[in-house]
Amino acid sequence: MAVSFSKRKLKIFLIALGLLLIHLCGGFLHLFAQDFDEGFDYPYNGNVKFLVDHILNGAKFTPKNTYNFAYKTNCSHKCNSPVKLLFLVKSAPNNYIRRDIIRQTWGSEKQLDGRVRTVFLIGERASDTIKLNEEADMYNDLVQGNFSDTYFNNTLKTMMGFYWAYKFCLNASEYFMFVDDDYYVSPKNVLTFAENPFVYPGRDITANIYTFTDLSPDKFEIYGGYVFESSPFRSYFSKWYVPLDEYSYNKWPPYVTAGAYVLSRLSLKKMYYASLFTKHFRFDDIYVGILAYKLEIKPIHNENFHFHKPYDSFDYKKTIASHGFDDPKELLKIWKQQNA
Ligand SMILES: *[C@@H]1O[C@H](CO)[C@@H](O)[C@H](O)[C@H]1NC(C)=O
Ligand SMILES: *[C@@H]1O[C@H](CO)[C@@H](O)[C@H](O)[C@H]1NC(C)=O
Ligand SMILES: *[C@@H]1O[C@H](CO)[C@@H](O)[C@H](O)[C@H]1NC(C)=O
Ligand SMILES: *[C@@H]1O[C@H](CO)[C@@H](O)[C@H](O)[C@H]1NC(C)=O
Repeated sequence: MAVSFSKRKLKIFLIALGLLLIHLCGGFLHLFAQDFDEGFDYPYNGNVKFLVDHILNGAKFTPKNTYNFAYKTNCSHKCNSPVKLLFLVKSAPNNYIRRDIIRQTWGSEKQLDGRVRTVFLIGERASDTIKLNEEADMYNDLVQGNFSDTYFNNTLKTMMGFYWAYKFCLNASEYFMFVDDDYYVSPKNVLTFAENPFVYPGRDITANIYTFTDLSPDKFEIYGGYVFESSPFRSYFSKWYVPLDEYSYNKWPPYVTAGAYVLSRLSLKKMYYASLFTKHFRFDDIYVGILAYKLEIKPIHNENFHFHKPYDSFDYKKTIASHGFDDPKELLKIWKQQNA
């Protein structure tokens, strides 16, 4: 009798434990998520595409969402002459060596007949203040905001990049690339890709081909890179856990991974305006994906934006950008090989 009673208790305990685990791992949240494909909506209400088109035609407007920061340094001189490509490099305060090597390699402004510009997007960290001030004076390429440089201020950092590009570089540059400081990039390939993403090797041939004939940066909306179609993490154990009240759908809009993406001037301008009518979201790549979705800008996937380093140096011929270069020595080595 006593034995079977405790067996029953054990069974109930195990079932309860199982349910709790399923819950913690997000099993039930998945059940309650709304179906993305049956209609996606994200604050704020209103047709953002329609609104932005009107703004581009000169309509007056009142923003619903703005990012509040001040530039500690703003490099307002950067785009005093016309450029083809602007790099906005997301960097962390203490990555001094990475920035140095980027300045000598893919971020060097001597490339493409001097029509490349590079700025680093950075926040604040008390322990780095003095060194960062010295670096800003020396190179004049830090766009530094007055916010803490933390993981969950990432969207703020990205949006500082959009605000800065819009304010100081919109008329000067044709293409804009947001890229992390642990990337290898080929500026030449970025441009070739941007000027016609539909012929660059590594494109997604199953994707709908646009019928556009005018691919110029003011006519065509490029939002290109490595495209993900994935779902929110609902497990409490994940660094990326997202509760339903923050985001209630079972899928994200398609988005380009934040490590590297290319925008044409038209995309940058439209996304900047769309952000003024779209509620903040703490993952920057998802936020930009939501802006694109609201604007009906389709992300353009290309495999030559690598998530993992290519295997041999030959693969770099077509590589547009590659993740995985947290070691600046390796970046320098590959860069030299490719530009020998
Ligand atoms: C940054 O600057 C803005 C605008 O001047 C100000 O409103 C905000 O309080 C500042 N933030 C911090 C953390 O100092
Ligand atoms: C940019 O920096 C310059 C020089 O420090 C300053 O005069 C100017 O007001 C700044 N502009 C903005 C928008 O912060
Ligand atoms: C973002 O930066 C602001 C301003 O420095 C700071 O108050 C806030 O705690 C930061 N947010 C996060 C999530 O780190
Ligand atoms: C950029 O060009 C547009 C249209 O020519 C003009 O209205 C705007 O003031 C310019 N912006 C800057 C920052 O020069």
